[in-house]
Amino acid sequence: MYDFDSVVNRNVPGDIKYEKIKGIDDLIPMWVADMDFRCMPEVSDALVKVAEEGLFGYYDADEEYYKAVTGWFRRRYDWEVDAAEIIPIPGVIVGIVHALNVLTKPDDHVLIFQPVYGQFERCVKWNGRIPTICDLKNVNGRYEIDLEEMEQKIREEQVKVLLWCSPHNPGGRVWTMEELKAVTDLCLTYDVKIISDEIHADLTLGGHRHIPIAKVSKEVAQNSVILSSPTKSFNLAGIQAANIVVPDPILRKQIDRRAFASGLFELNKMGIAATKAAYNLGEAWLTELLVYVEENMKLVIKELDDTKLSVMRPEGTYLVWIDCSAYREEGNFAKVLLEKAHVRVSEGIFFGKSGEHFIRLNVACPRRILKEALGRIKRAVAE
Ligand SMILES: Cc1ncc(COP(=O)(O)O)c(C=O)c1O
Repeated sequence: MYDFDSVVNRNVPGDIKYEKIKGIDDLIPMWVADMDFRCMPEVSDALVKVAEEGLFGYYDADEEYYKAVTGWFRRRYDWEVDAAEIIPIPGVIVGIVHALNVLTKPDDHVLIFQPVYGQFERCVKWNGRIPTICDLKNVNGRYEIDLEEMEQKIREEQVKVLLWCSPHNPGGRVWTMEELKAVTDLCLTYDVKIISDEIHADLTLGGHRHIPIAKVSKEVAQNSVILSSPTKSFNLAGIQAANIVVPDPILRKQIDRRAFASGLFELNKMGIAATKAAYNLGEAWLTELLVYVEENMKLVIKELDDTKLSVMRPEGTYLVWIDCSAYREEGNFAKVLLEKAHVRVSEGIFFGKSGEHFIRLNVACPRRILKEALGRIKRAVAE
């Protein structure tokens, strides 16, 4: 049994989530998407081994690395990936930017469904491309794709790329095969390439299962660039390790070259060791983590359901998306919670205009802390 109950001291210089806020000394940070659990001991052991060897010369991802990654894809998703299709890179956003630069020209349109992880819109804009925004439809507290709007915008704005988040952050949707087929069909019809960010793939709840976009069909796989990483699943964000999977060999060569040209390519030795340990030894830890997160989710729903906050039921991720429209007149609700409850959550607006009256709560923390935070939030909304 792994320990998710112990409170870990993260009050160390440079820890982004635990950044100090003036005047608040009992802050509970529930914003940035990393977990308050120590990583599994097997990963720490692997890193200690590398440190003890003390060999830090140039180092490549070796055969064992590719075996670990492809083995994970096969065991978890029944997804056969050839080692040659994988490009290791230091982060998912790095990979998205490489793919965007290869698949589009300046001023090309890139389709994004919002609300979504805020870096999507930024990476598109700040790389000189134009975001085409489609809003997800909130159908009885569950996000769905508006296919008609999607098709209309693709046509009107001559969209070149879909930047897709699967599973979905912040709404916690784990897209079904039917939904994936519908979306990818439209992309194939209008020759829209797909960049599929699957960083939350391993974090599915309540029997929902992630389907890699490349499994929809061979044609879809050839039309897609998939981003994957062990960093969310195993709480290794500071290690900066990810993989781009590019089934189309021509596109792969272009992305590989682009990565090299940008200077942002390959992993460091620690990233390689951590990835191998996580994927080779992490099944049990992840299983226990998901049970713990699921219990935390249930607690959030139980505690907040008798308030005017409306909690979306997540099918995946350790993030909860909460509609705070009932408290609209109080202004920015994340700020209200920070001031009244000393709980820091993510502001919905970071995820796009349609997230304006929402907050996102990260529940990957020991249950004792979650209970304290929920108590404070309930007192704040009762005031
Ligand atoms: C959907 C999504 N993509 C990418 C990232 C960041 O990935 P990386 O740190 O590997 O760039 C996050 C982090 O929260 C995320 O939620």
